Amino acid sequence: MSLLEGKVALVTGGARGIGKAIVEALSRGGATVAFTYKSSVASAEKFAGELRAKGRTTYAYQSDAASLSESAKVVEQVVSDCGRLDILVNNAGITRDRLLIRMTEQDWDEVIDTNLKSAFNYCKAASRPMIAQRQGKIVNVASISGVMGNAGQANYSAAKSGMIGLTKTIAKELATRNIQVNAVAPGLVATDMVKNVDLSQLEEMASIIPMKLIAQPEEIAELVVFFSSPASDYVTGQVLPGQYD
Ligand SMILES: NC(=O)c1ccc[n+]([C@@H]2O[C@H](COP(=O)([O-])OP(=O)(O)OC[C@H]3O[C@@H](n4cnc5c(N)ncnc54)[C@H](OP(=O)(O)O)[C@@H]3O)[C@@H](O)[C@H]2O)c1
Repeated sequence: MSLLEGKVALVTGGARGIGKAIVEALSRGGATVAFTYKSSVASAEKFAGELRAKGRTTYAYQSDAASLSESAKVVEQVVSDCGRLDILVNNAGITRDRLLIRMTEQDWDEVIDTNLKSAFNYCKAASRPMIAQRQGKIVNVASISGVMGNAGQANYSAAKSGMIGLTKTIAKELATRNIQVNAVAPGLVATDMVKNVDLSQLEEMASIIPMKLIAQPEEIAELVVFFSSPASDYVTGQVLPGQYD
């Protein structure tokens, strides 16, 4: 039997990048996977179609993760379509990088709402069916920026640090309900998010990675599978960072 057979997973921002690799990996592991997207309509439909063509049960919902009411509706829809919810992966995220002195209120609000409030929205909504089931896994996709800070990312680093605090706190709140809550905090990953970063800046960032390699989305997805599977049943409130000190 596959590792995640019979499980139902929900991934936010699953049509591209790290989220897409997570959807693919959870689905390959045997889970029924629902994912959300905001603007990548064509990619989401194509990806869901490809998974269904492989015989994998897949649901795709267009929804803004920054909206509490939309997030609650997605969770209700997943439970209605799939009968339960075992795994939640909070992956949706954006950057609006600028030095503090030039950062606008809009840059701040958009990043906090999309990267941090979204995790609150989905954790709150998903914990209800998970508590009723007496079982669940929540995996938050944070960032090494939230651990170490990163010049030009005051909004993003604050959101990701907040996500780490959220992870550790709700891990404590939900521990006795048999719900494990953990986070991954990747460094550089080869996705659209970093494609506009200046090459010399990328090289400098990669130079402090012990393996001197930028991660592939599939490598991050494997960590998420670990935190989603029974292999991590005795692990909660943990943050698995990239290869930095
Ligand atoms: N790439 C890196 O180096 C790196 C490093 C550490 C952590 N991360 C984190 O990993 C996660 C995925 O990033 P990525 O690199 O895969 O970036 P990406 O390729 O830019 O993808 C971002 C994803 O987030 C979704 N999204 C954005 N705003 C959303 C919203 N309001 N509602 C729902 N979905 C939304 C996007 O969906 P649509 O396209 O449909 O809008 C897309 O699927 C993010 O949380 C990011 O902070 C990335």
